[in-house]
Amino acid sequence: MPPPPLIAGNWKMHQTPPQAADLAAKILELLPPNPGVEVLLIPPYPCLQTVHEVLQGDPRVALGAQNCHWEDQGAFTGEVSAPMLKAWCQYTLVGHSERRQLFHETDDIVRSKLEAVLRAGMRPVLAVGETAEERRLGQTHAVLARQARAGLLGLPLDQLLTCTVAYEPVWAIGSGAAADPSDIAEATAILREVVEEAASGQAPAVRILYGGSVTADSAAELLGARGVAGALVGGASLKAPEFCGIAAAVSR
Ligand code: PGA
Repeated sequence: MPPPPLIAGNWKMHQTPPQAADLAAKILELLPPNPGVEVLLIPPYPCLQTVHEVLQGDPRVALGAQNCHWEDQGAFTGEVSAPMLKAWCQYTLVGHSERRQLFHETDDIVRSKLEAVLRAGMRPVLAVGETAEERRLGQTHAVLARQARAGLLGLPLDQLLTCTVAYEPVWAIGSGAAADPSDIAEATAILREVVEEAASGQAPAVRILYGGSVTADSAAELLGARGVAGALVGGASLKAPEFCGIAAAVSR
């Protein structure tokens, strides 16, 4: 049985702890008893404990972090390590394009973070995606394959199986202009090839998500693209009805 679709809400640098508690409570209220998808909330670090308390182990919703350091501990002022997150989180996002672009995270750094997440016993969500310029230059295939290979090749199969990959074209994030389903299907096929390469030719049940301007209205079409197993949602995850509408649109 393939895993259910994953609908992840990346709250980015939004929400104070009280606001986060409200948002999480509204999401719990609006989700049906059997959502038919796995829902993942990814609040900022200072909200994790609060949201964890609101969720009270509700089996419909998992909790994740937006980032972590690659070392487990040390003199890294201002940083947070994967073992620290483990108390609240089942998942941690690595390689989001905002981290790659604004914080200069290279493929090597992203790989080290992904390994830190695995070491801590959490599930990594590896985000990959081409910029508008790379797309214009016809480099989409090469960029996606490079980022995904750097993240996944050489992982033992049992660890690979805990990974999720998110295709997030940088130009589609927060722009209101999502990729079209045929581009998403093409990108997903490239990522699936890398996953199979990492699994020495097997076809493991690793979910590939799409992210970039997903809304409740567009979700069914975007996430109906071939090979897509859910969404990584930014802006629309900050409004409970919109976010739960996305979950409902892809519910199985
Ligand atoms: P968006 O962001 O849904 O606001 O486009 C997606 C993301 O950054 O994960």
